[in-house]
Amino acid sequence: MTTPTRDDRFSFGLWTVGYDGTDPFGGPTRAPLDVVHVVEKLAELGAYGLTFHDDDLFAFGSSDADRDRQIERLKGALAETGMVVPMVTTNLFSAPVFKDGGFTANDRDVRRYALRKVFRQLDLGAELGAKTFVMWGGREGAEYDSAKDIRQALERYREAVDLLGQYVVDKGYDIRFAIEPKPNEPRGDILLPTVGHALAFISSLERPEMVGLNPEVGHEQMAGLNFAAGIAQALYHDKLFHIDLNGQRGIKYDQDLVFGHGDLHNAFALVDLLENGGVDGGPTYNGPRHFDYKPSRTEDEVGVWESAAANMRTYLLLKERAAAFRADPEVQEALAAAKVDELAVPTLSPGETYTDFLADRSAYEDFDADASFNGKGGGFVRLQQLATEHLLGAR
Ligand code: GCO
Ligand code: MN
Ligand code: MN
Ligand code: MN
Repeated sequence: MTTPTRDDRFSFGLWTVGYDGTDPFGGPTRAPLDVVHVVEKLAELGAYGLTFHDDDLFAFGSSDADRDRQIERLKGALAETGMVVPMVTTNLFSAPVFKDGGFTANDRDVRRYALRKVFRQLDLGAELGAKTFVMWGGREGAEYDSAKDIRQALERYREAVDLLGQYVVDKGYDIRFAIEPKPNEPRGDILLPTVGHALAFISSLERPEMVGLNPEVGHEQMAGLNFAAGIAQALYHDKLFHIDLNGQRGIKYDQDLVFGHGDLHNAFALVDLLENGGVDGGPTYNGPRHFDYKPSRTEDEVGVWESAAANMRTYLLLKERAAAFRADPEVQEALAAAKVDELAVPTLSPGETYTDFLADRSAYEDFDADASFNGKGGGFVRLQQLATEHLLGAR
């Protein structure tokens, strides 16, 4: 059960295992990995999908012939292994031309160029059968308040997403967009910094139904937010189109650690939500379990594949632990004692109007706030300890 299979729908970015160790303070510590090798290794480890930015597969500025050659090589590896490409995305952040962003660069010519690059990658995504197109606007932002008119930047962002939506509809592509929030890095401040900001932005679009979210564990945690709670809200609004799983230890630079190698408790809550949080106790999300992590710079290629496997194994271990948690009668009893289920009962009765409600003396005039609540605790800590014990394999 903790050995990954295709049915688990684990996918990896080509840029994740392909990360060569470069950071702002030092160059590469590993040799580049060839895409065919990556597809073969990931398939062997039990993953089902590969995702990529255009520039991961063919270097920025490649000739059409080089680009086509790389696409053919990828297609060959997919055919040979049965791997799929569930998602693609565009790199609008590495090339110097995007230093002030793509969709929201002050320079209009850069924006037009960026959009053309995205159209091209959309066509490729459709050709490869991708169902999700991620938009991570790492360079869409600013360091200095006076250098960026945020309202106009959002207007240009909206213009870009609306145009791409129109194109997908006209082409008949079976693709939806997923915006990936991040608070900062590489820009000092990035537009659409959190799940909440992105949700509000989506409601301003021409086709909000085509646009959802690709939240990343570490990015919400960089903003000090509770990732599992953010995912619950994204699900509530039907906007969890894709997910980037990884690990992060607190409010600092983007660590992109292996899933679970950060806030393990929140990772447990997340897997429990994804796997058991449905109304029927089943999954809430059926899309790819996508890992967007970076094998640490200290590792060699053996460490790259060990870390890739670790992501999947940790997910499956947490899934197993979450199932045990749910099945434990003491947990069920503790959940009932904490009245977790009672929150599903509407506050007003069926058909009850506010006139009826205001006439209900038991709700207010006769309600004894002291007698009902003094000395009676919620029992939430006990519940959390039970979760901890299941997480630790102690139960
Ligand atoms: C990050 C981001 C990126 C994006 C990816 C997709 O760590 O800042 O996760 O890795 O997800 O580039 O565009
Ligand atoms: Mn990240
Ligand atoms: Mn990501
Ligand atoms: Mn990343």
